[in-house]
Amino acid sequence: MRAETVTLGPHPVLILVIFWLLVLAACSHSPSINQGKVLYRENGCASCHGLSGHGDGPAAATLPAKPTDLNNPAIFKRGSGEMAVAQTLADGVTGAESSIPALHHSHHEFVMPKFDHLTELERRSIALYVISLHGY
Ligand code: HEC
Repeated sequence: MRAETVTLGPHPVLILVIFWLLVLAACSHSPSINQGKVLYRENGCASCHGLSGHGDGPAAATLPAKPTDLNNPAIFKRGSGEMAVAQTLADGVTGAESSIPALHHSHHEFVMPKFDHLTELERRSIALYVISLHGY
């Protein structure tokens, strides 16, 4: 009788596991605080709002309106939930909405730029990070 040659390839179960891990990675559409933390730094939020969100970043002194203290959600005029903050980032904040009355005539000027170049998922990740700063 002739001996069969057995080729030792990767175990089929291993292949299945790797396949499902790839599927999961491709489908992970949930925002993450850690991602938000990185994006908060990469997108210059910290330059205005400060690294810990107190509204005391290096650029704050040069701005017409003091950046909102992100640790105090009670003063967020556009809402402080995940979706509300993500929307604020998509829209930016105009002078008309500013807490500084003197800026209210400047409807079309932004006191905070909009971040509409980011994806919705990225804005929601940043929102989660902002929420994690509440009461900090
Ligand atoms: C150019 C400076 C600047 C940058 C950059 C900036 N902000 Fe702001 N932000 C402001 C100012 C100014 C306000 C409004 C203060 C006011 O009400 O007059 C504000 C307001 C906010 C508010 C409160 C809005 C509300 O509902 O009242 C949130 C939340 C916020 N910023 C988050 C962020 C995040 C997150 C980033 C980065 C993606 C960011 N900001 C980048 C200056 C900035």
